[in-house]
Amino acid sequence: MAILKVGRIGHPVVRGTAKPVPLAEIETPAFQRLVDDMVETMHEYDGVGLAAPQVHVPWRLAVIEILPTDERAEDGVPVTVLVNPKLTPLGKRRVRGVEGCLSVPGFRGVVPRHERVRLEALDRHGRPWSVEARDFYARVIQHECDHLDGRVYLDRMEGLRSLAYQEEFDRFGPQEPVDEGDAD
Ligand code: NI
Repeated sequence: MAILKVGRIGHPVVRGTAKPVPLAEIETPAFQRLVDDMVETMHEYDGVGLAAPQVHVPWRLAVIEILPTDERAEDGVPVTVLVNPKLTPLGKRRVRGVEGCLSVPGFRGVVPRHERVRLEALDRHGRPWSVEARDFYARVIQHECDHLDGRVYLDRMEGLRSLAYQEEFDRFGPQEPVDEGDAD
């Protein structure tokens, strides 16, 4: 396994639209290694999610993991692989929470997201799965799926007034009202 280099904003790979993972790729050793490396990279940087375009692979693929000890979420989410995900918002309600991103290192910002979403995807072996997620898990799903279309959380902020350096955020907290915790 290997820790992959994470592209930051300014690198075109972060802003590109990713292509569906070809189904014939899924059981190849190269694809399985990529998934393992993405999980290891997410762990290395203490992220709760990582999308393939962030590691210079323009495919519709992301990994998510929320530890049971993470106080931003009611429940943990084990390592979860999203291949060719399809996202559908459920209901109209949006909630504001704090996000950061490995492609925008050192910053946090307040971002409105759908409170509830339905996700349909394939797992790392090409098996279909789906979930109805809410709150922090729904936020992480939306953040990672955005990466597949070249979007970062900055594009979803209502303005830049809540953008903060991590250190100042840790000291002073979010500079706009939030409804829930934060996401990487
Ligand atoms: Ni991100």
